[in-house]
Amino acid sequence: MSGETKTRREADAPRAGRRMFIQSYGCQMNVYDARRMSDLLALQGYGEAASAEDADLVVLNTCHIRERASEKIFSELGRLRELKAARSASGDALKIVVAGCLAQAEGAEIQRRQSAVDVVVGPQSYHRLPELLARAGNGARVVEAEFPEEDKFGFLPAPTEAATRRRGVSAFLTVQEGCDKFCSFCVVPYTRGAEFSRPVAAVVEEARALLAQGVRELTLIGQNVNAYHGAGEDGAQASLAGLMERLARLPGLARLRYTTSHPNDMAADLIEAHRALPALAPYLHLPVQSGSDAILKAMNRRHTSADYLALIGEIRAARPDIALSSDFIVGFPGESEADFEATMALVEAVGFSASFSFKYSPRPGTPGAERSDQIPEEVKSRRLLALQELLERQRQAFNRACVGRTLDVLVEKRGRHEGQVGGKTPYLQAVHFEGGPELVGRMLPVEILSAGSNSLHGRLKAREAA
Ligand code: SAH
Ligand code: SF4
Ligand code: F3S
Repeated sequence: MSGETKTRREADAPRAGRRMFIQSYGCQMNVYDARRMSDLLALQGYGEAASAEDADLVVLNTCHIRERASEKIFSELGRLRELKAARSASGDALKIVVAGCLAQAEGAEIQRRQSAVDVVVGPQSYHRLPELLARAGNGARVVEAEFPEEDKFGFLPAPTEAATRRRGVSAFLTVQEGCDKFCSFCVVPYTRGAEFSRPVAAVVEEARALLAQGVRELTLIGQNVNAYHGAGEDGAQASLAGLMERLARLPGLARLRYTTSHPNDMAADLIEAHRALPALAPYLHLPVQSGSDAILKAMNRRHTSADYLALIGEIRAARPDIALSSDFIVGFPGESEADFEATMALVEAVGFSASFSFKYSPRPGTPGAERSDQIPEEVKSRRLLALQELLERQRQAFNRACVGRTLDVLVEKRGRHEGQVGGKTPYLQAVHFEGGPELVGRMLPVEILSAGSNSLHGRLKAREAA
């Protein structure tokens, strides 16, 4: 689920006045946070810059999940330091903010190593950015990496119309944050703090604002989104299934998704929602990490490979056409050849439509990093390659199996070629077909004609389906 995203909004950038450039690394939570930061800073008068070079304020919204993620950010900070030096030589100030999970985990270190950084702000405190920037403006350098008592969502501005227009047809909506699971490889419980669920009413309000401004698909996000247990509108606690049932009644909503889920939190009502809720896309990202029981235990995942397979059986019984994706880690300390083969066997048994797979990266402060039985790099590389080959074969097979089917496609944007539009199938595949820009925002039946390596090509079947 990790990827790199740039928040670039050249079109709306004013020619004069202060300009911001926000670059986001890591997961969807960061993409969402970057958008909220951008809305917040827009209210402070910041327009959008096309690059750091054009900006007065650069925000790096960072990730700490693997060592490479952190390294990339330190190298980008090196580049920004030079840019800032060149700019101040010409009397033109540049402010640098480091936000996100690396800021939370290594705030003091960043300040020590990178004197060019003005503000360090953790993922639970970015609602205080305007105040922190004002303090930094007086020559101070500010680190804010506490987990404050207040709920940042209560302090963030509602999405503005201009911001939503740029957001497009599909939007993320954070409903849950943090994690109490402490998988032994993972930094998230340390960087994002304890599990927290937003109240149903707050989620509904934000969803309404997004839908009113043209969003048609909502992806509810959280590090453990299916552990959601927010206060309901009736005062009782709501589950994720309850929340989605409520959201599905909102006018204008075409499709719902949620990510990321932990297998142990796949409650019966959530599985049932996949049968009963037409708006809920038949797609589930359910990371398993490993197929070996010994490794799952060492990872503190608290389920076995058989538990996972049984769960998949239940989910498929509720929604036979569901597409499944997962995250995998190879080379966790102590992983034997047999453990790795168990992962390959699980992948064969399930058949995934897409997946993310990583070499284990020891993270400071996590139990996995302390272990003395780390796996050599070349073994990790070999296993990752074998796993990725298998996962890619499954992905291509899944895509090919869609050829000839007619799928509901939510049209998101103009296609790369003139006269084409692009959108997503229920299974999160990118698809393009002939059509004009007036189709953007509509859910349409599209017959899939062919499967390329990264997207499908189709033909519009009839008029609007939803
Ligand atoms: N909350 C989600 C995932 C969070 S992080 C879950 O429970 O599955 C996203 C993915 O990054 C994880 O699923 C895992 O596959 C990977 N990851 C996390 N820590 C890692 C580490 N130390 N080394 C390699 N991959 C890691
Ligand atoms: Fe990390 Fe595990 Fe929590 Fe997912 S469930 S965020 S992998 S600690
Ligand atoms: Fe990275 Fe933080 Fe997300 S560590 S994956 S940005 S929760």
